[in-house]
Amino acid sequence: MTHKNFKNIDRVTYGRGSFSQLGETIAPIRSENNRYFVYIIDQYFHGKDLHARLQNQPEDLIYYIDVDPHEPTTEQIDQLRDKILSEKGLPSGVIGIGGGSIMDIAKAISSMLTNEGSSTLYQGLNLIKKAGVYHLGVPTISGTGAEVSMTAVLTGPEKKLGLKCDWTVFNQVILDPELIASVPTDWWFYAGMDTYIHCIESHNGIRNNAFSLAYGDQALHLCREVYLNEKAGQSPDNDDILMVASLMGGLSLTYSEVGVCHALSYGLSKIHGTRHCYANCLIFQHLEDIYPQGVKEFKEMIRKHKIELPQNVSKDWDEATLDKMATVSYNLPFMWQHAFGDNYKEIATMDYIKDLFRRL
Ligand SMILES: [Fe+2]
Repeated sequence: MTHKNFKNIDRVTYGRGSFSQLGETIAPIRSENNRYFVYIIDQYFHGKDLHARLQNQPEDLIYYIDVDPHEPTTEQIDQLRDKILSEKGLPSGVIGIGGGSIMDIAKAISSMLTNEGSSTLYQGLNLIKKAGVYHLGVPTISGTGAEVSMTAVLTGPEKKLGLKCDWTVFNQVILDPELIASVPTDWWFYAGMDTYIHCIESHNGIRNNAFSLAYGDQALHLCREVYLNEKAGQSPDNDDILMVASLMGGLSLTYSEVGVCHALSYGLSKIHGTRHCYANCLIFQHLEDIYPQGVKEFKEMIRKHKIELPQNVSKDWDEATLDKMATVSYNLPFMWQHAFGDNYKEIATMDYIKDLFRRL
């Protein structure tokens, strides 16, 4: 087994109100390249008070992006990259403000600004040839771990797979719990459960180790405070905790691997466009035989927060659809190997994966 050599985020600012330090944080970088910054912001914040707090300069480009219709695509990244370069040339850096999809877009744009051709050429590990521009992430919803991961997940015509290398990792993140206060309850739950599932999957597999377990145990402890214990629920104190849980859950899986739920989730999202965190929740509830303790606790949290997850969604899927979904999931061997061990191919067959999807 090859041991991972993970590039961590260069710098982290954490704390209530820390977003106000954005301007001074990026000031030294402004002398690089064509001396301007690109802001990539979730459309949700358009016209809201955050706009007045961006600390941008007149030369900066600001793009509000609607991430609701679909998860980031390779086509979307290529178009935005071409637009930025034709408008003002190479920026000093890219700032992403939003949820997991905006984090992914900021990471991908940073690398694609300096690497020629379509982003489909770079979907995979270490395929990017040149360092991207400086990039900074400001999460406004916590749970996906996208702020800390190497991966910029993109859906392409062929596959849903991340751009992933040392240069995709953020140079800086600013974790300001005040920014996640306005997340609607259902998405607060789904995104937080992404972290919870990261930890359960990271723990239950052959790649876990003292490093991933230490981060994962702590993240699970924090998730229980936010979603299960007597003070559970959306509150400023829990927002402080959830931001750290997301980061630590991401670090746990970085040193280990995700598992069955994420492998299936990629298949569901690629074929049906289901959002990552929501797809995980739809699937995880049916994996009691694979992750018994995790699913039991997950269901307690579902009950506590009165979350309704749809049932019998698979009734509308024909064989051809199930084949397409299973093919995407089957082609994530690292996840199956981690979950089932080195003889995973004997267990995770196409038929087995299709049967898992039929549970939904
Ligand atoms: Fe995830």
